Parts: sequence; C-alpha cells; structure tokens
Amino acid sequence: MSNTYYVTTPIYYVNDAPHIGHAYTTLACDVLARFKRMDGYDVKFLTGTDEHGQKVEKSASAACMEPQQFTDNVSQNFRDLAEFMNFTHDDFIRTTEPRHKAACQAIWKRLFDAGDIYLGSYEGWYAVRDEAFYGEGELTTGPDGKRIASSGAEVEWIQEPSYFFRLSAWEDRLLQFYNDNPNFILPRTRRNEVISFVKGGLQDLSVSRTTFKWGVPVPSDDAHIVYVWLDALTNYITAIGFPETEADSFTQYWPADLHMVGKDILRFHAVYWPAFLMAAGLEPPKRIFAHGWWTNEGQKISKSVGNVIDPIELVNKYGLDQVRYFLLREVPFGNDGDFSQQAMVNRMNGELANDYGNLAQRVLSMIAKDCDRQVPAPGKFTVDDENLLAQAMALEEALRERMDALAFHECLEVIWRVIRAANAYVDAQAPWKLRKEDPKRMGTVLYVLADTIRQLAILTQPFMPDASAKLLNQLGVGDKDRTISSLSLRLIPHSALLAPQGVFPRFQE
Ligand code: MSP
Repeated sequence: MSNTYYVTTPIYYVNDAPHIGHAYTTLACDVLARFKRMDGYDVKFLTGTDEHGQKVEKSASAACMEPQQFTDNVSQNFRDLAEFMNFTHDDFIRTTEPRHKAACQAIWKRLFDAGDIYLGSYEGWYAVRDEAFYGEGELTTGPDGKRIASSGAEVEWIQEPSYFFRLSAWEDRLLQFYNDNPNFILPRTRRNEVISFVKGGLQDLSVSRTTFKWGVPVPSDDAHIVYVWLDALTNYITAIGFPETEADSFTQYWPADLHMVGKDILRFHAVYWPAFLMAAGLEPPKRIFAHGWWTNEGQKISKSVGNVIDPIELVNKYGLDQVRYFLLREVPFGNDGDFSQQAMVNRMNGELANDYGNLAQRVLSMIAKDCDRQVPAPGKFTVDDENLLAQAMALEEALRERMDALAFHECLEVIWRVIRAANAYVDAQAPWKLRKEDPKRMGTVLYVLADTIRQLAILTQPFMPDASAKLLNQLGVGDKDRTISSLSLRLIPHSALLAPQGVFPRFQE
C-alpha cells in the first residue's frame, strides 16, 4: 500500500497581485499537507502560477512589458507570498517552464492521436477575464448593453479557426465516473451542480486560439496556441514528470489525492479535466474540493471597489498564526465567508489569547514557579484526570476524520472543546490552592495539564506552526516527538522546561 498524498492548489493567474483569496486556497492545502506529513504520509504539495493566455498578455501590454518579464515579476510575488505565509509546498510550477511546455504538447499529442481533437472554427462568446467560452443561454445584458457571463465577466464575440476537443462524446462516461466515485466532487451541493450541468448536454470545446501568441504552440500547427485551460490543468501532471508516466514520481503520486479549487473554477476541474485525462488514457484525480468565496465586510472583493484584502497587510497587523487560524476557523470550509476586522479581533482575543494562550500561560508559569521549571512527577490519576487525558487522546481520530472531509473549522472546534475542558479543569482543581495543602496532588494536576497542552500543541501545528512550535519548545518536546504517532508518549517527569513565554498576544485597538 502506498502511503503518498498528492495535493494541489490552482495555479494562479499572474495578471495581478496575490490577494487573500489566493492565500486562502493555498493555506487550506498547507494545513492538510502538514497534517498528512505528521501523520506519516509521503506528501507532495504543489502550487504555482498560470502564465499564458490572452488575459496575461493584455496585462503585460498594459504594464508596457514583455509577457515573459511581466510574468517573471508577478510569479515571484506569488512565490514570496507563499514563503511569507509559511507554506510548505514541495514544488512551485510555472507554466512558462520548459518542463511544462513539453508536458502540454505531449498531452495534446495523446488527445490528437486518440481522435479526440479535430480542426474546425469557433464562433461565439469568450470572456477574457475567465478565459472561458460561454453559450448564449449563460449570458445576461448589463445596463450599458454589454453582454455579461454568469460569472460576472464581460464577454466578447470571437470568430477564429480552432481545434476542438470532442467533449460531447464524454458525457456518458463522465456521468458514469461521477456515479462510481461519489466523493469525486465535494461538497455535495457542488457535485449536484456539476452533474446537472453535464446532464444538460456537453458541446465540443474549443482548445486552441489563433488571435494572440502568448502560449504553448500546438504541435505540428504553430498558427494555433493551446487553450490556456488545457495548458493550465496539465500542470498537475507536469509537476510529477509527465510525459514520463512510468517514472516513479508519476506512478507514486498519480492520480492526485486532491485538487483544491475555489467554486469559480469547478467546471474546468470536474468536467473538462477528467475528460481530457480519460481521453489521454490517464486516470482522473481522486477528489476535487470546491471551497467558497470571501467577501470583505459584506462586500464582494474587487479591484474596482478597491476593497481587495492584502494578506501581507493583514498578517502585519494581526500576526501570521492568527490570520491562518481565523481564515480556517471563521467559515465552515466549503461555504462563502465574510472577512470583518471585528470578527478577526474577537477570535484572536477570545479563542487564541483567552482560551488557548491563557491555558498554556497559567500552567507553564505555575510549573516554573512551583515545580522548579521541571515536569512534575504525577501521582495516581483521579477520574477527572483520566477524563481530561482521554478527551485529548480522542482528538487524533476526530481530527483524522475531519481532515479527510476537509472540515478544517470542525478540527479547530474539537480542539477547542478540549482547550475549554482543560481550562475548566484548572478552575475546578485549583492547583494554586494545592501548593500548601497537597503538593503531590498539585504536581499531578499540573502534569495532566502540561501533557494535555503537549498534545494540543502537536495538533495545532498544521494550523499555527510558529505558536505551536514555541509551546512545544517550552515543554521541552524534541523535534521528532511532534508527530501524530508521538501523541501517546507522555511528558517525562523531572525533565527541564524553558521559561514560559506568552504566544498569543491580545490585539489592542
Ligand atoms: N489560473 C486559474 C486556475 C488554473 S488551475 C489549473 C485561476 N487563477 S486565479 O488567479 O483566478 O485564481 C482563482 C482561485 O483563487 C480561486 O479558484 C480560489 O481558489 C482563489 N480565490 C480568488 N479569489 C477568491 C476569493 N475572493 N475568495 C476565496 N478564494 C478566491 O482561476
């Protein structure tokens, strides 16, 4: 049984600066990748940038730059953001790399040789913003008479020679595939939307363009360049060595375990991509999860409204782990969510500073003051002690299940239940009173608490890596003892701890 886990983010368009939406998708993948790694998986976590197409070409020309130079700059901003956010991707792919051009042309050849691509001409609506073709039925007319796609993007009429992919021939096989793989598209409501879209009938898809140059040339017909979505989707197999399908990197990691995407690009991933793959004789990925959309203080985030949230500003104001926590705690993953300063501050001060921070701070300071800064030696456990330890031990399974369901908010909820139980236990046991009355019992209570905090800090690592590492350092937990399999190890009595130090500051307005 292979123990690999391959997770990908969408590759982001380099037409613009990275914003909170991009950081959100990659964050979710990062948390998952970190969890799977500490659960013993050989993880491959891929992110990158989508650099071809008309939209990027237009942005480059608006910036008076050559597309290559323009994409070099903007791609670097995405790379810098990933580092700033403490993401642990194993590879960062750019579609302008030679390895990708080769993969893209190779998949084209497979589709062409299989008879799934033919030459024709396209006449219809196209939205450059979405790099997508739309049917008449998907359009409305704006107040100024402009035609608008269901996504809100403006469309233009195009007419040009084009190669087509025989998507119409894949309708039944796609429906069969969704039926055989009920968890291929999640959440469930999104799955239903995709199925009704496919049942509504699929038309052949235009997969090449001739009116601009910025892209991968079609093999043997370089008047055409490969449609940017066929180009972009292929990144997921480029990164593991396609077209070398016999190489270990490919056989170990394909099919991908998860393509994480926003709901806006589900159709490309759940309809076109599996059809391309099946036609090319490759397996579709195991799962596509489409998450929701962020708004800012109730408003749609858009450049024209001027309310784009810069993740760097946010982190500089509130702290990195705080922002990572907030984004995954505030909204049930999959739903749309609203960013508000008030909600951010409430969670930061309430759940991080008061609940988690305070628990660690008061326990570690008591141990520093009353136990010579050493792990106290416990006596016999009472029912209350056993109860708290059992609640902490139960987190492992609870989290594994919820991580597999991509229910990040629930992971944090169940962790916080234990944090609250531990705080209630501190109040009920009142170790500060035991110091004189029954120091042995005080040692036991503080031991139970310290070990509970150890387990909590191991499990919060994927969400809040820096703060959790500080807690584990203070508890003297070695690097190799920070995995899921080390949850059941206990703190060793009399081992020395570091001086306690607060890890979750309050936000002062
Ligand atoms: N280049 C394509 C993807 C190709 S994947 C083979 C693309 N790029 S994008 O830069 O527009 O990124 C879209 C993704 O960014 C969304 O699917 C989502 O993951 C994320 N988000 C962008 N804005 C967002 C919000 N306001 N809220 C949440 N996520 C959003 O599409």
